Amino acid sequence: MDHTVVRSAPGSPPDRRHPEPFVMIIFGAAGDLSHRKLFPALYNLIVDGWMPDKFAVIGLARQKNDDTSFRRLARESAAEFSRRLIDEALWEKFEQNIHYVEGDFSDPKAYDRLRTALATVEAAMPQAKNRLFYLATPPSFYPIIAEQLGQHGLNKSADHWVRIVVEKPFGRDLSSAQALNQKLHEVFDESQIFRIDHYLGKETVQNILVFRFANGIFEPLWNRQYIDHVQITVAESLGMEGRGTYYDSAGALRDMVQNHMMQLLCLIAMEPPIANEADAVRDEKVKVLRAIHPFSTRDITENTVRAQYEAGTIKEESVVGYLDEPDISSDSRTETYVALKLAIDNWRWAGVPFFLRTGKHLAKRVTEIAIQFKQVPHPFFSQTDTPLEPNLLILKIQPDEGISLRFGAKVPGTGMRVSTVNMEFLYDTSFKDAAPEAYERLLFDAMLGDSTLFTRKDEVEAAWELVTSILNVWGRARGPIATYPAGSWGPVEADQLIRGYGFAWRRPS
Ligand code: BG6
Repeated sequence: MDHTVVRSAPGSPPDRRHPEPFVMIIFGAAGDLSHRKLFPALYNLIVDGWMPDKFAVIGLARQKNDDTSFRRLARESAAEFSRRLIDEALWEKFEQNIHYVEGDFSDPKAYDRLRTALATVEAAMPQAKNRLFYLATPPSFYPIIAEQLGQHGLNKSADHWVRIVVEKPFGRDLSSAQALNQKLHEVFDESQIFRIDHYLGKETVQNILVFRFANGIFEPLWNRQYIDHVQITVAESLGMEGRGTYYDSAGALRDMVQNHMMQLLCLIAMEPPIANEADAVRDEKVKVLRAIHPFSTRDITENTVRAQYEAGTIKEESVVGYLDEPDISSDSRTETYVALKLAIDNWRWAGVPFFLRTGKHLAKRVTEIAIQFKQVPHPFFSQTDTPLEPNLLILKIQPDEGISLRFGAKVPGTGMRVSTVNMEFLYDTSFKDAAPEAYERLLFDAMLGDSTLFTRKDEVEAAWELVTSILNVWGRARGPIATYPAGSWGPVEADQLIRGYGFAWRRPS
């Protein structure tokens, strides 16, 4: 594929959209998400010139802090995790507009103090009357914070926008997700709510839409007539990274499948939206979720696999088994690996199996979508020693972001031997500008009020409906759950699942 290098001209970014002045209020501002993602993303947006001239940040958290100590924390976050080195002059300007309110999320007095802080900021910066609330807290606080914001009249404004960004996990099953949606809707309109799924902020994930709908080549082939099956892999070599308590109550199905993997599936399987607009795109994604063939109890037994990692070795380092990890109960049945086969009941996909797998402590970190095309109808160049491979299109989400197409080519020499070759597009070689981090893109869109890359209420609930049906059956099952050695590609049961359909999992290189 073409390796022409594309750059945006310095100082003239191609995207001319610009957010209006606003104040961002971060709940849980002293926590890990703010530290690793939010402050670094804000700082990068400033460096890239995407922030409005007038904006301020108010952090609200229980931790003891004042403006000075909080600014120091914010600086440490940006220095450690930003893509950019700290520019003293820029930072100094930004820092003056960072403030801190100490308080308990359920204490009404904290919201009185927040209101006072907002009034002080707005007095100094009268243009900045729009508000972006960001809930970077444990999810149990979401309903409490929403209610308090409503009671303090902070949820709306007559002539300025007010938005709220909510992090995952968004519920832990269908009924809790519905209850949370209802609670948020008592205080905010759907148009004000921005539910983050950070996978949608990834460049390569957005590129799925561009690849499919900005190119004429593949879309005519994108259906049951030409596609044999699809494999979606989100493999992680890392484990729980200190989040054992959360993870043991969630598991891979809730942590990865309900959100990130369902989003990937939707982007691959959706119909072309009528416009590049938030609701047009999200309408099509919801249709995919609703078309997924519901899992019967038998389907769940036959078409889902859950497993836990046992001790093993990853990159020459020994890893303990899941049950021996800190914060994990020794009789936990939480899955660290899931494989599923699902079917989409519509004209485009009838009869095309979709295989999904994800797991912690697998052999390698790789997220990819492999689309296998049907073989030619008559094997004209049949070879008995090395059978012809089917054409394969691989969308490489991370790492080594790009797209690869595998097809047969004639081996030079006498005779007509066919070998499989790769055509590669690599982001790194074709585009020289570093891609923004997912949180930069998503924060920017939330500031603009563009909810295309955020999940809508019905989308979240449709994904939970499917996942809850699996959780219910798993919850009733007794007996041991499957295992796999840390550092492997997963349990043999997952190999058996896909083999039952006549396929094998891809081994990403
Ligand atoms: C998070 C999950 O949503 O996504 C984590 O809670 C997981 O368990 C992470 O590790 C994976 O994200 P990424 O961007 O590293 O693929």
